[in-house]
Amino acid sequence: PLVSMKEMLENAKNDHYAVGQFNINNLEYAQAILQAAEEEKSPVILGVSEGAARYMSGFNVVVEVVNALIKALNVEVPVAIHLDHGSSFEKCAEAIHAGFTSVMIDGSHLPLEENIALTKKVVELAHIHGVSVEAELERIGGQEDDLIVAETEAFYAIPSECENFVKETQVDCFAPALGSVHGPYKGGPNLGFERMQEVMVLTGIPLVLHGGTGIPLKDIQRAISLGTAKINVNTENQIMQTKKIREVLETDREVYDPRKYMGPGREAIKETVIGKIREFGSAQKA
Ligand code: G3H
Ligand code: ZN
Repeated sequence: PLVSMKEMLENAKNDHYAVGQFNINNLEYAQAILQAAEEEKSPVILGVSEGAARYMSGFNVVVEVVNALIKALNVEVPVAIHLDHGSSFEKCAEAIHAGFTSVMIDGSHLPLEENIALTKKVVELAHIHGVSVEAELERIGGQEDDLIVAETEAFYAIPSECENFVKETQVDCFAPALGSVHGPYKGGPNLGFERMQEVMVLTGIPLVLHGGTGIPLKDIQRAISLGTAKINVNTENQIMQTKKIREVLETDREVYDPRKYMGPGREAIKETVIGKIREFGSAQKA
């Protein structure tokens, strides 16, 4: 069933695992991720960027498709549909009214006070609807869809500001920028674990790690031990799907039936998600 992230992330934080947010781009992504979660008996978050929602003909279509799949595939694990990097109050409101159970408002490009004011406004609306809210402080580098942040603009969040931000806004979970990057890492990630620990202690709420693609297992485990309860993965599924499809197309130059390459691509997404669910420790936690 569709639920907000509130309870799943509280449980994850208390029990020291993380719930994966896996972004969807089309039907195959939604199928693969829901099946992986159900097989692993794991709670799961379907991330939907504004760009991906546009590609799928809008928020309403996304909600209808996901609801229909939950029914058709007999999905019993908790599922949240979450707006990823919501760019404005209006977009968050649109997603909430379409039936999203969770939204992220990304005001990380704004001055602190404006980010707080915007996030507060989204929280007020969302909580009336039982929808959970995630927010971001300081900017996460790299590129995801239309969101591009240069290295020179990506600073590490300051713990005292995080404390104030969470207290003022009453968000349900919180993504402080601490060195993670959207898309593949050049070299390895350089995560600010000391600050992460401080932010955990000062805010007390589940923390979110964006840019989950390419973070080594030991860093994942350390982040979880420091209060990270949600990890976002997008690029890795795209890479594995595309690699598989390319392989099929290169091996069989005659193939034209989309199911013959989209099907194996879907399988590759599912396997990737299962691997992440196990790394994050959320298997058998539904
Ligand atoms: O918001 C989504 C994520 O932070 C995904 O990051 O594409 O590097 O896995 P990624
Ligand atoms: Zn992100």
